[in-house]
Amino acid sequence: MGRAVQPYELIKTKRDGGRLDPADIRAFIQAYTAGTVADYQMAAMCMAVFFKGMDSRELGAWARAMLESGEVLDLTDTPAVKVDKHSTGGVGDKVSLSLAPLAAACGVPVPMISGRGLGHTGGTLDKLESIPGFDVNLSTEEYRRLVREVGCCLIGQTAQVAPADKKLYALRDVTATVDCIPLIASSIMSKKLAEGIDALVLDVKVGSGAFMKRDEDARTLARTMIGLGAEMGRKVVALLTDMDQPLGRKVGNALEVMEAVDMLRGEAPEDYTEITYALTAEMLVLGKKAASVDEARQKLRRAVEDGSALRKLREIIQSQGGDPRSVDDYSLLPQARSTVDVVAPRSGFVTGIDTEGVGLAAVALGAGRQRVDSKIDPAVGFTLLKKTGEAVKEGEPVVRVHYNDEAPVNGVKARLLAAYRFGDAAPAPRPLVRERVE
Ligand code: URA
Repeated sequence: MGRAVQPYELIKTKRDGGRLDPADIRAFIQAYTAGTVADYQMAAMCMAVFFKGMDSRELGAWARAMLESGEVLDLTDTPAVKVDKHSTGGVGDKVSLSLAPLAAACGVPVPMISGRGLGHTGGTLDKLESIPGFDVNLSTEEYRRLVREVGCCLIGQTAQVAPADKKLYALRDVTATVDCIPLIASSIMSKKLAEGIDALVLDVKVGSGAFMKRDEDARTLARTMIGLGAEMGRKVVALLTDMDQPLGRKVGNALEVMEAVDMLRGEAPEDYTEITYALTAEMLVLGKKAASVDEARQKLRRAVEDGSALRKLREIIQSQGGDPRSVDDYSLLPQARSTVDVVAPRSGFVTGIDTEGVGLAAVALGAGRQRVDSKIDPAVGFTLLKKTGEAVKEGEPVVRVHYNDEAPVNGVKARLLAAYRFGDAAPAPRPLVRERVE
């Protein structure tokens, strides 16, 4: 029998800045997973953690309890070093969609358990589900088989894999408790450590569209996750990457799938291509398929040029029930019925983009969820015609809005306009990869 849980007492202790006992944390998470701690109690606890934090002992216990809420998948029947990547979340962040086939095409098996959109950020599962037929709800046996035979499988959390995070992730999404270092670190590491990986690359986003707006917070988050990985015997490398403007030019589920396919053809925007290469190169080194990041980059470029990365994507889509022809014919992906442009109010340069504002505008348009049970529209989103540093003329389109439902459109256009800043001079470009933390 588990320890008796007094949710009220534990929430109060944390609310008042006290420390929780690891055994109480374990019992609280177990009871939440089983449904005897209610969502509203967990929401209150998350808000208390948001304000009062957790020390490393509490965090270790919290992360381990989340990991142990399900099983740790055994992928030892795939002998190679298995490596995954996880992003802390951003806007237009479709890196997983191109990185997973690229790494797999270069011989690194990629077992990937992904999440849905969270707060103002998009989620890989929602993007994948915009591919007709693509099934992210596979059994553990099927997951194991596809990692072994295809070299990659992308699924959502199941009842077996970190189920505590599955519930908590959806709850935090709608209770403003996402941007909290211990909650993010335990969420990511519990599901990543459960998926059967040997090593992990973390993409810790930093900037106006990330949960971490400041470099020092992103660094702390990276170090926290690396520490949790080390405690559990996994090699983890983190890159701090720029999220001060959306990545690439597409925001929205099916639109991002198209841009990911463009990347594998060598035709995607430079920022998105560069970040994908930087992260995938780290995976190849960890997976022992390249001796250095430079050698890894050469292999990645070759996999794009010879078409093997694109072939791997078709194979992954087919193996998970999706229509592989969507890679070659975008009309098979969901398409919005209408578009309208947001235009520049003045001539000059785009001097910055409040990227969280763009993400929230995408949610308002229907590309993300406003409630746990909201249905998303896979077709809607934005094409960013202008990004930071680019010149504009008054009246020139800066963002194209792809929509189905007319109702939110005016509000969305106003939000986008408010998110864009214009000025007389282009700002100095910022490095895409800010820092590497090991
Ligand atoms: N990604 C996750 O998986 N969890 C978080 O809490 C934030 C980003």
